[in-house]
Amino acid sequence: MPRDQYELLAAGDDDKALDELENRLRFNRVKKVLFHFLVVLAIMFAGFKGLKAYIKSSGQWLHKQPCGGQRNYSVRLPSHYQLPSGHQIPSVALGVWKATPGEVGPAVTAALKAGYRHIDDAWAYRNEEEVGKAIKDSGIPRDELWLTSKLWNTFHAPEDVEEALDDSLSKLGTEYLDLYLIHWPIAFKKGSNNELDVALTADPYPTWQKLEEMVDKGKVRNIGISNFNIARVKNLTANPLKYQPAVNQVELNFWNPQPELLAWARENGLLLEAYSPLGSNNQVKETLSVPEVKEIAGELGITPAQVIISWHVQRGTVVLPKSVTPSRVQENLQITALPEDLFDKLEAAAAAHPPKRVVNPSQSWGLGFDLFEDEWPY
Ligand SMILES: NC(=O)c1ccc[n+]([C@@H]2O[C@H](COP(=O)([O-])OP(=O)(O)OC[C@H]3O[C@@H](n4cnc5c(N)ncnc54)[C@H](OP(=O)(O)O)[C@@H]3O)[C@@H](O)[C@H]2O)c1
Repeated sequence: MPRDQYELLAAGDDDKALDELENRLRFNRVKKVLFHFLVVLAIMFAGFKGLKAYIKSSGQWLHKQPCGGQRNYSVRLPSHYQLPSGHQIPSVALGVWKATPGEVGPAVTAALKAGYRHIDDAWAYRNEEEVGKAIKDSGIPRDELWLTSKLWNTFHAPEDVEEALDDSLSKLGTEYLDLYLIHWPIAFKKGSNNELDVALTADPYPTWQKLEEMVDKGKVRNIGISNFNIARVKNLTANPLKYQPAVNQVELNFWNPQPELLAWARENGLLLEAYSPLGSNNQVKETLSVPEVKEIAGELGITPAQVIISWHVQRGTVVLPKSVTPSRVQENLQITALPEDLFDKLEAAAAAHPPKRVVNPSQSWGLGFDLFEDEWPY
């Protein structure tokens, strides 16, 4: 049996006791060195992994860690999309429709403070002046912001386009827009809000050519369309366009997910922007109470609104949530990649019911046809 130095000392074997003591000290030293080596190795490994994750995530949203166990995270959500012009459009914007006077300015201020750099406005929202003031007061350099506005139906005549654009520019207090959209594929006669200009509605090319001229003049950087169905996009793009539409801004939400339009747009390189992404003010409550949405929110430790907004970006669209409530404004910017199975579950739930639009002014404009139908009577 091996004996320790004390036993050897007690037995009077001093030399052996000394040897034994030296052996033990040597062993302890080796143990210590080995331990430190392992600690350094572990730190280096963790640092390398962190650096790799940082490099991989640069230019992307930082994702919240989900609470659920091991999940398959094959998707990263883009913070920007590249347009045909090469410009980068931020994937999440603050929408300002129905943001009333006195409300909209503080909402824009809260959004810019929270980190939004994309505001979706329109001449018809009648709040461009207050939005412009909030932007100016923020002190954020113009070239760090993305501003979208829209040409209203009464200004489609080529001779009216520049004046309408100038009005938006002056109200927003800017020399150029990042994106200018034809708000609706419906042209009204000048000064009327329900008298259809049949020629310009049937063929929006003259309006588009004027918009192209605005790009060349430097008053807008990108031009696009809104509320165009596939047939109407084809009708426009059949012309020899100088600039292709950069985006099509359409209603996309849980109740009206439009998977066919989404697939077609993807195949044809046309970026979609999701308006009324939460179901707008009249359906937001129902959207956020959908069982699948609540379940996913619970599983990932995020809010139902964040589930929906993240789902839109994961579908490959720009998303334009509107809120005038500062806490919601902040909440809506925090997007998270949904694990594939949960994304598929939400996509299936959205497609499982008959589609229902929140926004369709066909009747209130007295058109006599549904502007979203493929066929139109002229
Ligand atoms: N091109 C077009 O024809 C067109 C048409 C419609 C909309 N749009 C654009 O799309 C934007 C968004 O659409 P939208 O305004 O119809 O509807 P939305 O963004 O789907 O919903 C807005 C509603 O949701 C509420 N909300 C926002 N965040 C929330 C949260 N985290 N939790 C609970 N409630 C929340 C808002 O309330 P609070 O504001 O009270 O917080 C508001 O009542 C518009 O502002 C506009 O820029 C474009």
